[in-house]
Amino acid sequence: MKSSLLGLALGLVSQAALAATAAPPLQDKQAFIDHLLGQMSQAEKIGQLRLISISPEMPAEKIREEIAAGRIGGTFNSRTAPENRPMQDAAMRSRLKIPMFFAYDTVHGERTIFPISLGLASSWDMDAITTVGRTSAIEAAADSVDMTFAPMVDIARDPRWGRTSEGFGEDTYLTSRIAEVMVRGLQGKSGAEHDSVMAIVKHFALYGAVEGGRDYNVVDMSLPKMYNDYLPPYRAGIDAGAGGVMVALNSINGVPATANTWLMNDLLRQQWGFKGVTISDHGAIKELIRHGVARDGREAAKLAIKAGIDMSMNDSLYGEELPGLLKAGEVSQAELDRAVREVLGAKYDMGLFKDPYLRIGKAEDDLQDYYAETRLHRAAARDVARRSLVLLENRDDTLPLRKSATVALVGPLADAPLDIMGSWAADGRPEHAVSVREGLEHALDGKGKLLYAKGADVTRDNAILDYLNFFNAKDDKIVLDPRPPAVMIDEALKAAAQADVVVAVVGESKGMSHESASRTSLDIPASQKALIKALKDTGKPLVLVLMNGRPLSITWEREQADAILETWFSGTEGGNAIADVLFGDYNPSGKLPITFPRSVGQIPMYYNRPSIGRPATPGEPGNYTSQYFEEPNGPLYPFGYGLSYSSFTLSDLTLSADHLQRGQRLQAKVTVKNTSERDGETVAQLYVQDVTASMSRPVKELKGFQKVLLKAGETRELTFTLSESDLKFFNAQLQQVAEPGQFNVQVGLDSQNVQQQHFELR
Ligand code: BGC
Repeated sequence: MKSSLLGLALGLVSQAALAATAAPPLQDKQAFIDHLLGQMSQAEKIGQLRLISISPEMPAEKIREEIAAGRIGGTFNSRTAPENRPMQDAAMRSRLKIPMFFAYDTVHGERTIFPISLGLASSWDMDAITTVGRTSAIEAAADSVDMTFAPMVDIARDPRWGRTSEGFGEDTYLTSRIAEVMVRGLQGKSGAEHDSVMAIVKHFALYGAVEGGRDYNVVDMSLPKMYNDYLPPYRAGIDAGAGGVMVALNSINGVPATANTWLMNDLLRQQWGFKGVTISDHGAIKELIRHGVARDGREAAKLAIKAGIDMSMNDSLYGEELPGLLKAGEVSQAELDRAVREVLGAKYDMGLFKDPYLRIGKAEDDLQDYYAETRLHRAAARDVARRSLVLLENRDDTLPLRKSATVALVGPLADAPLDIMGSWAADGRPEHAVSVREGLEHALDGKGKLLYAKGADVTRDNAILDYLNFFNAKDDKIVLDPRPPAVMIDEALKAAAQADVVVAVVGESKGMSHESASRTSLDIPASQKALIKALKDTGKPLVLVLMNGRPLSITWEREQADAILETWFSGTEGGNAIADVLFGDYNPSGKLPITFPRSVGQIPMYYNRPSIGRPATPGEPGNYTSQYFEEPNGPLYPFGYGLSYSSFTLSDLTLSADHLQRGQRLQAKVTVKNTSERDGETVAQLYVQDVTASMSRPVKELKGFQKVLLKAGETRELTFTLSESDLKFFNAQLQQVAEPGQFNVQVGLDSQNVQQQHFELR
């Protein structure tokens, strides 16, 4: 009886299950994947390469059918267990039961929204950024998300590019350090933990260098510049263990990244030894036709898979074309298998073979309300947001404000909970976000008085509004105030007249700093300038609170304002964090991760420009030097700049030796003193200049930084250690070398005002 039952049971189990029984133990990743690959039909293999966006265009039922038939490998944009479970169930009904993964753009938070990446970088605080990565992962994983398309580590030196907001600024070293901690934060102890999500470093490569800052444009760049300035952050993210890479939409020196064998194979896999999965950007394989490198879909698919693009995002070409290409022998079995192996490997690393429901959990544990307030990590969001704010001006100690003051709060972004979260705000909800108005109300707590008037629209330019509103989702539309501008300004002036101080929240709406939102001007729009001008004329102290996702050219605004606080898009707790700084409950400590130019015409302007033969001397006109003659040269605010309510001095830079012997180390010591009566934090920054090399090297390059808290009056000696590896660069032959000769060491509290010493590398 027993044996016949067993026989019956055995007869019922599918071939796949039998194969699974014979499968090598799960602990042996390679053997497990090889074995699985051996069971897969060609169609199932091609199915694994398909990543689709969950959108209303494709009904859920159809998607489940496709999954059950083994024709989809993963999805993105669906992000609750009740949404994802039926899809995973469908995968478990498929012949080989290969689990799906669910991805999402959790870029600066999932439900709790942290400051945009540029704001995170302004904190120069690696612990804070680790917290952002960890918290984002915990919330995303609880939303049944397995993978996030972050961090974005594209170096941006042209703020016209709208996606400047999504990256960590202009500097290679700072961005690389952030890439590491972000990846570690997201992936946690192991990517296979239930509260980890796989990090996908993007956009590989050089997306931030699109010509003219115009999104999706070409990138043309010398190899040394690429290797020295633009590639290291991707490498840092990968070396920190990122499970995957998203491929950029741009071409590089003529060859689109999506078809770029040199980039994807020679550099990424061969030179760097990358072992993870590569994912195309949205629809990028098909775009190879419009790039002008593929005749048709067939050729596009062929180019992409041969280049090493494993998964195609929202693009049907692999499914349509790979069978024919394989049959004709134009794509080999080995090329297909390589891509499939990477996808399976990623699923393995996310722990999904062990438990396909690792992050989905059991139905009885589903949350009642995925938007519940209790899910938010407000304390962490407030703490990080405060650290991301940069005090740019503070004449006559205008700030901090007194809590007993009457404050006129004006400006189109003062009461803008949607905007304060910034672009790519995942599942952040405006009703959870604290606007500046709300933050100030809490802080004043009935002691002082808050008078609010909108004062202006973000812009009154209809063409711009049409563009932004075309781009924005239904509930994101910018709605113009029905009142004429003059009436709005009058209202603001009435509030100002009754107030001790005016706080104007001005800048960009979130859609102005986004994908596909490149600008030709870095100005604050005219409607808001008119408001600032009118407020200035009242003679009341004027505090500008800037909200924006890129450096703005605020040369004129600087003359009008008594204080300026750069707040970027500061997230769910932004309003409280801004109030903390305005009223002095938190002493600002942020430093710019990107240069503020005086005008758009100065772009590109970044601190680590290469040395040239005719540099301008600041403050001296002098013909035949490299400068513009219509306005002062140099940045408005340099990289690394930011004020505090404390004042600091930096002195006594000394080196432990006048030379560095290869294989040894050199110490740079410097004294930082808090000369004020307030405890405060500042960032000591160490720059190095290779004075004479086989190539013109940057005038300075960040090589270390320390964020330190100093008590009122406290003096501290800081030590930085330099070794040969800090002096290395890729020369014209792309050899990574540290060349003998003189190096200058500079330490400052920004990149411009520095102490300098020098040593020889022998
Ligand atoms: C963006 C990517 C993003 C993807 C998925 C694309 O438009 O370029 O950064 O990860 O969409 O949402």
